[in-house]
Amino acid sequence: MTKVLLTGGAGFIGSHTCLALLESGHQVVVMDDFSNGSAEALSRVAALAGLGPWRQTSAERWTGAEPEGSRLTLFRGDVRSPQDLDRAFGAADVGGGIGAVLHFAGLKAVGESMAQPLRYWDVNVTGTVRLLEAMGRHGCQTLVFSSSATLYGTTETVPIPESAPLQPINPYGYTKAAVERMLTDMAGSAPGWRIALLRYFNPVGAHPSGRIGEDPHGLPNNLFPFLCQVAGGRRRQLEVFGGDWPTGDGTGVRDYLHVMDLAEGHGRALDVLLAEPPQVLTLNLGSGCGHSVLELLQTFEATNGLRLPYTVVERRPGDSAVSIADPGQAERRMGWRTRRSLADICRDGWAWQSANPQGYRGTETQPTPELIGAQNGS
Ligand SMILES: NC(=O)c1ccc[n+]([C@@H]2O[C@H](COP(=O)([O-])OP(=O)(O)OC[C@H]3O[C@@H](n4cnc5c(N)ncnc54)[C@H](O)[C@@H]3O)[C@@H](O)[C@H]2O)c1
Repeated sequence: MTKVLLTGGAGFIGSHTCLALLESGHQVVVMDDFSNGSAEALSRVAALAGLGPWRQTSAERWTGAEPEGSRLTLFRGDVRSPQDLDRAFGAADVGGGIGAVLHFAGLKAVGESMAQPLRYWDVNVTGTVRLLEAMGRHGCQTLVFSSSATLYGTTETVPIPESAPLQPINPYGYTKAAVERMLTDMAGSAPGWRIALLRYFNPVGAHPSGRIGEDPHGLPNNLFPFLCQVAGGRRRQLEVFGGDWPTGDGTGVRDYLHVMDLAEGHGRALDVLLAEPPQVLTLNLGSGCGHSVLELLQTFEATNGLRLPYTVVERRPGDSAVSIADPGQAERRMGWRTRRSLADICRDGWAWQSANPQGYRGTETQPTPELIGAQNGS
């Protein structure tokens, strides 16, 4: 059992990974500013993990000093704030410090990054600098970073190996490349760093219970949550960007992976980092299979017995025809490969969307204090 800090753990990938880590027996501390995440997501994670009642604790209990130990603790906090970080690390110091950090907190919308580049550099890069400083203060040198296939830009290489050149084409991608560089430099500056750079392809779907899923605040930035919201009647029709790509049916091809496969990949990466000598491990996380937008749409319709309105519009600047991972390295280094199909993704994504048409909103129990805790069995 390791005590793990998840920055951004109340968001889409973080909440699913939090559940996977709890199910593997880890103790989890989450810090999130709720800018695109939800406390309700963690409340549901606690229930799915079979933890006792999820509740706000008093000011005195911010230290996590429950005698039997809290298995899941959530802080409201900004990753750019040394005080917020110290509170999250410090609370866990009672009974043993944080053994590893999974760093999900960040901004991820490509278009928004072009309109607000400074904000992206501040949250994604400065936020990581502050996190590394806090890790230094608290003696933690194990970090799993949420990187992205966006790094590869519009490469035509298929499938894409980790050795492909990094050529980001937007501020979001540049911030991911900068953080990868910074983490590699850190590892070179002092012995002991155990770092995983996980380059996700297209994580989609939801936990099969339909209790947790992707709940973007505002207009969805990615195809799958948009498609789910069209299916649920929250958006009028799906816009498909480009029907003239050099692909089988003219629409873009992507490597979709189920978010629970991705969550399990984090658990594997953590196991490898903790078991092996210090290193920087760089891995693609994808299925190795490509599906076009129309294939995804048709699978969603066939799996769920629905018809979705869509229209084909102009290509989006910066998109590429095909993006597919070579996931061989992840299999060789940590025995991980995706297990769930595109139909599983569509079934679970719709189970979440249909049961939660407005996402977590409406069911939200916003925390007024900054700490909420759940205890095993209480
Ligand atoms: N979803 C994808 O398609 C995808 C693909 C590749 C990489 N990633 C990366 O994975 C990570 C998680 O992505 P996600 O899809 O779960 O996104 P998400 O927006 O659902 O989760 C990010 C979480 O970070 C929190 N956050 C943002 N700024 C913060 C700050 N300053 N301090 C503390 N918390 C903050 C948000 O509230 C949110 O809960 C991100 O770093 C993203 O760039 C995502």
